[in-house]
Amino acid sequence: MATPLRLLSIIGARPQIIKAASVSRAVANLGDRIAHTILHTGQHYDTGMSEVFFQELGIPAADINLGVGSGPHGHQTALMLAAIEEVLLRKEHDVVVLYGDTNSTLAGALAAIKLHVPVAHIEAGLRSFNKAMPEEINRIVCDHCSTWLFCPTKTAVDNLQREGVSLDMDHVPTKDRPRVVQCGDVMFDNSMHFAALARSRATVLQELEIVGTDFVLATVHRDNNTDDPLRLNAIFGALLELHQRERIAIVVPVHPRTRKMMDRLLDPALFAALSTTQGFHLVPPAGFLDMIALESNARLVITDSGGVQKEAFFFAKPCVILRSETEWLELVQLGQAELVDADPERILSAAERFLRDGVPSCQPVFGDGHAAERICAELIKGQ
Ligand code: UD1
Ligand code: UDP
Repeated sequence: MATPLRLLSIIGARPQIIKAASVSRAVANLGDRIAHTILHTGQHYDTGMSEVFFQELGIPAADINLGVGSGPHGHQTALMLAAIEEVLLRKEHDVVVLYGDTNSTLAGALAAIKLHVPVAHIEAGLRSFNKAMPEEINRIVCDHCSTWLFCPTKTAVDNLQREGVSLDMDHVPTKDRPRVVQCGDVMFDNSMHFAALARSRATVLQELEIVGTDFVLATVHRDNNTDDPLRLNAIFGALLELHQRERIAIVVPVHPRTRKMMDRLLDPALFAALSTTQGFHLVPPAGFLDMIALESNARLVITDSGGVQKEAFFFAKPCVILRSETEWLELVQLGQAELVDADPERILSAAERFLRDGVPSCQPVFGDGHAAERICAELIKGQ
């Protein structure tokens, strides 16, 4: 029997836990072929930002939890880096698997490459071309530390090629000549896998007494939106105005970062109106099944989240993006999403257009729901 390939998945933030679920399912289907260790940095730690996803998505408990918690970028990343290095020095892992673009990704990439442990980056090649965004630095560094670059889209492959990465497949992948694989999106895998379960188990719509699809789902958590009082007030002011003009319910599962900044920065009258208006629901972060139920039933999604933008697309829902650019260009090019930044007029006009006209039906661009299987097969091939 072949020796198991020893993978170390490093996760820490909510979307990474969700992405790792696809890989952990694919690993389980391979029997003893892969030994999978999960390291949680502790970047996210509230039950509703971490534990709930392990439970709902059936992810084995983390083998290692660094308990790093929150802090300024440098401090948080440095704590993770030192602790991940200690784990890698034990030489118990053949490949480090990293997801997306958070500080946990950055720390994992730096720790691994310095110790010559090969890195596989899931969601490689995404670019916003905006280095003011902390995630842009993280993803560029991680890509250029990687031996395997697992791209969800053709756009991601093209971005890597423009940065000088060869697409040649006729070589053994190394950190100097990485292998680029367009494998599809592990988040699409999850959405397809859990859609039926969400239909039977999610309770959020009943709890909010929402009947049918007459509601808008909104999420806001990007630092440039939450930490800037003008932008934060503009976004929440526009959401309230949309609710009043269209007489449509709005559901906002609030990220803890946003909750903290709303308390500090939101105009008290606006905050009071948001909290007391019937049909405007500020709720705690949703679990994954509830989130899928909300996304697949809403008439419209308004968000600055990368993952939520894509999930809106998976469920053929229009999406108003509260950013000036996106890594997921296809959504905009196909007419399913519109970039509006934090501009109230643009938020309202895009939202009203989508509520009136809906969106065209689109061809799938995020693979076939088997990205994680492809990733595992490629890593086994490289063993
Ligand atoms: C991080 C990622 C971002 C990702 C997001 C997903 C980086 C640089 N950013 O942003 O790319 O889109 O996660 O949700 O890695 N907090 C809690 N409880 C928690 C977690 C966070 O209260 O369980 C609060 C703390 O006040 C913390 C703040 O949220 O300071 C921000 O958390 P942090 O992980 O630093 O960044 P996110 O904004 O969550
Ligand atoms: N998500 C969730 N509950 C929420 C908000 C988001 O389960 O209240 C899920 C969402 O369905 C998607 C992922 O979290 O799978 C996206 O993560 P997030 O918006 O935190 O970060 P981003 O994708 O922008 O990095």
